[in-house]
Amino acid sequence: MASHYVGGHLAHRTSQQLLRVVSAAGVGLLLAGCEFEQSALHPAGRDAEELSGLTWFMFAGAVVVWSIVMGVTVYAVLGRKRPRTERFADLFILGGGVAFPTICLAILLVYGLSLLPSWTSADAPGVRIHVKAEQYWWRLGYELPDGRVLETANELHLPNDVTAEFVLTSTDVIHSLWIPALGGKMDAIPGRTNVLRLTPTKAGTYRGVCAEFCGPSHTFMAFPVVVHQPADFAAWLEAERTPAAAGSELFAASGCDACHTIRGVAETGKVGPDLTHFGSRTTIGAATLPNTRENLLAWLADPQRIKPGAAMPGYASLPEADRTAIADYLMGLK
Ligand code: CUA
Repeated sequence: MASHYVGGHLAHRTSQQLLRVVSAAGVGLLLAGCEFEQSALHPAGRDAEELSGLTWFMFAGAVVVWSIVMGVTVYAVLGRKRPRTERFADLFILGGGVAFPTICLAILLVYGLSLLPSWTSADAPGVRIHVKAEQYWWRLGYELPDGRVLETANELHLPNDVTAEFVLTSTDVIHSLWIPALGGKMDAIPGRTNVLRLTPTKAGTYRGVCAEFCGPSHTFMAFPVVVHQPADFAAWLEAERTPAAAGSELFAASGCDACHTIRGVAETGKVGPDLTHFGSRTTIGAATLPNTRENLLAWLADPQRIKPGAAMPGYASLPEADRTAIADYLMGLK
């Protein structure tokens, strides 16, 4: 009986893992409508352009050096054996072993250093976003002109050609914010405030990830990054500022409001992601699943099945009609 249970449990785990891999692939395909949305070699930001240039320069240099070394090796093994003067041998070793690497590394150093100033003296930011890394999602706060902070979660929106400043913090473990298409990464460390500035140069949808192993759902804390033309960004921000229309009493009656805020409806829960415009987001569980009614119902019933270590309890005990009503209500929050 015991072994039967263990076997069943293992099979259950394997199918769970399979479900997650398939789901992740599904989200990947969904987001892949735009190719290369997570590639540092297809840059859409100023820093990423310079990093990509440096990468290709180093790659070309490596190809040249590799070709020379391989050529000399082939010549040494297959070439005609004949005696050389001692002077030739000395010059060969000094030239190939000292002068050649010194010149190569010096060129690389000069080029690399020439890129530094633009990274250390980034433009004054046009938008400031407070990013708090949670287990396992991203709390995002947009600083408004009047100093207030507008909270949202797991989907980053940025204006094109405007420098965005990310103020990174974390309460518990270390995470790392990385949007390869826009530039370099920065850690979110408990007890510290780190600042990262990025300037998108091409409107489009990209993908950001957590680049620091942080726990069982490290791989399930990605996020879509939408770079808008500035006017469209202003319109998005204005829409986000609007409180949600009053709605499902079930949201409060079922206790959802203890952890989640829906501005205009329930504003005390601060533990979980803000859900004010949940229906307009493209993914749930921080890019774990596409945001569909079916996936949301599965999430409400058992979040840990989809995302191990997620802090939200499952609500399989609620009557199915209630869960469906809550899901429909959330999907309607555009
Ligand atoms: Cu958060 Cu890895």
